[in-house]
Amino acid sequence: MTPLLRPPGPRNRGIVGNFPLGSRDPLGLYTQWARQYGDIFYYRAFYRHIYFLNHPDLIENVLATNSRSFIKGEALRSNQRIFGNGLLTNEGESWLRQRRLIQPAFHRDRIESYGNTMVAYTERMMAGWRDGEVRDIHRDTMRLALEIVAKALFNVEITSERDRVATALNTVMELGSGGRMLLPPLLRMLPTPGNIRYRHAARQLDDIVYGLIRHRRSNGQGADDLLSALLQAQDESGGGMRDEQLRDEVMTLLLAGHETTAVSLSWTWHLLAQHPEIEKKLWSELREVLHGRSPTTQDLSKLPYTERVVKEVMRLYPPAWAIVRNSLEDCELGGYRVPARATLMMSQWVMHRDPRYFEQPERFNPDRWLDDRAKGTPKFAYFPFGGGPRSCIGAAFATMEAILVLATIAQKYQIRVAPECPVEAVPSITLRPRHGIKVMLIQRGTQERH
Ligand code: HEM
Repeated sequence: MTPLLRPPGPRNRGIVGNFPLGSRDPLGLYTQWARQYGDIFYYRAFYRHIYFLNHPDLIENVLATNSRSFIKGEALRSNQRIFGNGLLTNEGESWLRQRRLIQPAFHRDRIESYGNTMVAYTERMMAGWRDGEVRDIHRDTMRLALEIVAKALFNVEITSERDRVATALNTVMELGSGGRMLLPPLLRMLPTPGNIRYRHAARQLDDIVYGLIRHRRSNGQGADDLLSALLQAQDESGGGMRDEQLRDEVMTLLLAGHETTAVSLSWTWHLLAQHPEIEKKLWSELREVLHGRSPTTQDLSKLPYTERVVKEVMRLYPPAWAIVRNSLEDCELGGYRVPARATLMMSQWVMHRDPRYFEQPERFNPDRWLDDRAKGTPKFAYFPFGGGPRSCIGAAFATMEAILVLATIAQKYQIRVAPECPVEAVPSITLRPRHGIKVMLIQRGTQERH
């Protein structure tokens, strides 16, 4: 059958077309359109033709089955200044070579060795906490996750630099997302105040990452970690991997490896604080299995409820809220013709809340993931880590980190929402809480005082 020309979608408004990322509630708008127009819809944003896929089979087609017909979308490429040609943005043969080089650092037995760091650093962070205080726990988890990934992958203590990284990263996230993601490259070069601040933040991140590489070079390369493996590969390939490529890989892993996990932990506190019955169930599992001692990787298989909580948080608040691809050639999707150079958008936020696949989708219910109940869910109805060859290299690392950090904190503290603190999810490169997550910490065993 001849494919139809264009899927249904919202009416164009003048030369702008439609520009959901510039609207007040992009996530709400995408969801509304998805429910209204079905499995695939189309809209134009200025000169870009956007096909929004809203069915697991179509998403699987693009990310897995026919992944070679698509490349990474402009949202990521517009942040090329930050990620360069690192694993997240690279393509083709060069991507494959780098993925093979980096993969061993993420093998299961390898990441298990990072477990102690994850727990020890969480305990170090908690040592500075006081019973009854109000904290922005998003800020805390961002720093923690950065320290963990730097230590685990590159064997460096980043404590003294973490605030500089956090400030620069905030600027990049603020200015590297929203409508700016779709600006033509030329407009991003103009010396506007926003562009200047963005470039300054990028230079600061460069300084930190190059500093880290220099430090390792001058202190010998004996260490058995990813940074040494990358340096070694650089030497062996006789200049094949340039210094900039090394910088791009380190920067990508540092940023992709902490922002997402931190965001997932922040949303965990937000949800637990509002669902005391779930928090209570979580605590009983932790008490029964750990009896007050620190968790280890040996405990992971004994903490199924904690794992379900982590999984359910990433359903409702997926840290990567959308994946974007560009088509390299004409293709057919869902009975429609999609031309070359079109933009394909797939949103975890929209798909994970689809009532066709999740009963009472807005409800925070970790038990929906109990084995037999979850069996019927199609693979690409839930895809927090993407899928196919470009799926997240750090998925197991991140899941383990989320479980261990949650177990360590929830065992010692009950977390309540601080009164009158607004919470709003912003679809930046990741799904960030706009005002942080302000909570009150109640040390376990002292509840009766509050
Ligand atoms: C909850 C935490 C995390 C989430 C939700 C997440 C999500 C994702 C997603 C959706 C992708 C695919 C993007 C696409 O297809 O365009 C991805 C790729 C990637 N992630 Fe993660 N990620 C997380 C944690 C991590 C960690 C801990 C690391 C490293 C330490 C990491 C490193 C990467 C890299 C390097 C890629 C690119 C892989 C490739 O294309 O070969 N991520 N991530």
